[in-house]
Amino acid sequence: MTLTTRNIHARIGKKEILHGIDFTARAGEITAIVGPNGSGKSTLLKAITDEVDFTGEVILNGRNTAKMKPWELAAMRGVLPQSTTLAFPFTVIEVVRMGLMAGASGERADIPSRALAAVGLDGYSGRFYQELSGGEQQRAQLARVLCQVWHPVVDGAPRWLLLDEPVASLDIGHQLLVMRLMKDYASRGGGVVAVMHDLNLSAMFADQMAIIMSGTLLTSGPPDTVIQNDILSKAYGCSLTVNTAPEEGQSFLLPHLAMHN
Ligand SMILES: Nc1ncnc2c1ncn2[C@@H]1O[C@H](COP(=O)(O)OP(=O)(O)OP(=O)(O)O)[C@@H](O)[C@H]1O
Ligand SMILES: [Mg+2]
Repeated sequence: MTLTTRNIHARIGKKEILHGIDFTARAGEITAIVGPNGSGKSTLLKAITDEVDFTGEVILNGRNTAKMKPWELAAMRGVLPQSTTLAFPFTVIEVVRMGLMAGASGERADIPSRALAAVGLDGYSGRFYQELSGGEQQRAQLARVLCQVWHPVVDGAPRWLLLDEPVASLDIGHQLLVMRLMKDYASRGGGVVAVMHDLNLSAMFADQMAIIMSGTLLTSGPPDTVIQNDILSKAYGCSLTVNTAPEEGQSFLLPHLAMHN
């Protein structure tokens, strides 16, 4: 089962932001979407979730999403936006329960507290969301999304986590926690699509990577084929060197320091 886009052209106002994107993510895998600021990564996620004007098709588990009902979509995929503001003083558990209410009905009532524990926010239920730190708020939002699609597979069909920069404001320990959580979701048959800026974490955890540059798909494939000096230097407009960690054989990136004359 896949999440596929066909020839997505997205526009915001009069400006075309995406110029014909064919993108595929497979269930059971983490697909990382990377690329420079302003290249269209969030817009691609918004096209997939129908939050922006677009032409083309989005096919989720073999069905055109334009023909699916909102409740069917909500039961199949949870979406973490790049930033979230809340106007009212909700407690953490109230925020997380919103995910349970958005998803399929009949889910167990203990899922919100399990989701909070999964993101390392055990004991935060009664705290006010607005009084959490940036990284804690980000993890509370992730718990909300997890709640919505808690079981990675339902009636044989994968569910999807669509995450816009899920680890952006997290420390390295919590980045690893969230990446492992995503890996676990995928290993149990769910699909995970995550916009990422950390190329090293992407190389370490993603099964597939897609680079978006200037509203087009520059390249996609397994991390080994994407984490290449020439491809990344072109995408990011700076000089980068790919190295290999001696023991793990893991690819990692270092930026070149500017040389002094
Ligand atoms: N509401 C908006 N109005 C006008 N232009 C917008 C709007 N939202 C995004 N854009 C433009 O669309 C382009 C793509 O934005 P998008 O948010 O998809 O980038 P991104 O790849 O997610 O970047 P980042 O890494 O900074 O999050 C940018 O040029 C941006 O300025
Ligand atoms: Mg973005």
